Amino acid sequence: MNIFISGGAGYIGSATAEALINAGHSVTVYDSLVTGHRAAVPEGAKFIHANLDDSHALAEALTSNKFDAIMHFAAFIEAGESMRDPGKFFRNNFTNSLKLMETAVQAGIKKLVFSSTAAVYQSSETPLTEDSPIGPTNVYGHTKLMTEQALEWYRQIYGLHFAALRYFNACGALPGRGEAHQPESHLIPRVLQIALGQAESATIFGTDYPTPDGTCIRDYIHIADLASAHILALGALEEKDKMIYNIGSGSGFSVREVIETARQVTGHAIPVIEAPRRPGDSARLVASPAKIMNELGWKPTHTNMQEILSSAWEWHTTHPHGYDSQ
Ligand SMILES: NC(=O)c1ccc[n+]([C@@H]2O[C@H](COP(=O)([O-])OP(=O)(O)OC[C@H]3O[C@@H](n4cnc5c(N)ncnc54)[C@H](O)[C@@H]3O)[C@@H](O)[C@H]2O)c1
Repeated sequence: MNIFISGGAGYIGSATAEALINAGHSVTVYDSLVTGHRAAVPEGAKFIHANLDDSHALAEALTSNKFDAIMHFAAFIEAGESMRDPGKFFRNNFTNSLKLMETAVQAGIKKLVFSSTAAVYQSSETPLTEDSPIGPTNVYGHTKLMTEQALEWYRQIYGLHFAALRYFNACGALPGRGEAHQPESHLIPRVLQIALGQAESATIFGTDYPTPDGTCIRDYIHIADLASAHILALGALEEKDKMIYNIGSGSGFSVREVIETARQVTGHAIPVIEAPRRPGDSARLVASPAKIMNELGWKPTHTNMQEILSSAWEWHTTHPHGYDSQ
């Protein structure tokens, strides 16, 4: 298939672009490089350097070629920042998604796979299914929920088939490909930066959550498993006009557990500072990925925290400055 990928110079989009190329698909990456990296765009992909808010560039890109489907990764991703600057997130994550849907319909593209998030759910003691109560605790999650809701109307009105993949915490690395956000707010790369001597200590935000060790619990899903979920969802869009799936491993790890495993993998002490809770964080987000496993035969293959951290550590030690050479 011929696939248009928004945000394909980013962490998850570029890993998925590479997996699509390896599976024999043609890929065009459309990315403003606001947080992504030109060097992350895989060899063999066509690259368009443009912003989704540029209506002219977007219309030209989507009509320049006959695309079979869109994979929409482009967004701002920092939940904490969304609580300080909500407008930035509503504009990029919702308004620009709407622009993409609108232009896709005009270009006659009928399939879209959307990067949604576990942040659409309320915190829950038990693993989250797709029927668990919705209730974003931050603006970031809300912008993703709004986009899912708009996609549903575009399905009903224009017949746009869509899959909303609600990722839990993306993690891990592939050869030559890993997490390189600036600034980095995600736990795993943050603690590995400390082990590399690039930062002094990790901050644990909240040690009084109702969890066994008092720190937040998250489900971590390797980027290779996220990429395989996209490829399966893309194939299924031929038959199904609407899919919403949780993409997680089904296991939860607390902040303290991740840090402890990072100490074992890196051999570094990784000092921590304990700080109050951050607005917008919820105590526990762990997936039940049973639905996509049963319906599409997807299976997460990198669920061990030691293995996840080892793959990320390999990326960080071989690419201490991410995609930059300095
Ligand atoms: N990283 C996670 O743990 C996680 C979890 C759940 C959902 N997601 C979602 O997955 C997607 C990808 O996340 P990521 O971690 O790869 O983030 P990322 O920041 O590495 O990638 C996002 C990419 O989108 C591009 N982009 C952003 N706004 C754009 C715009 N207006 N026009 C063109 N390009 C634009 C950026 O330059 C970047 O290359 C996002 O939609 C995110 O919300 C990520």
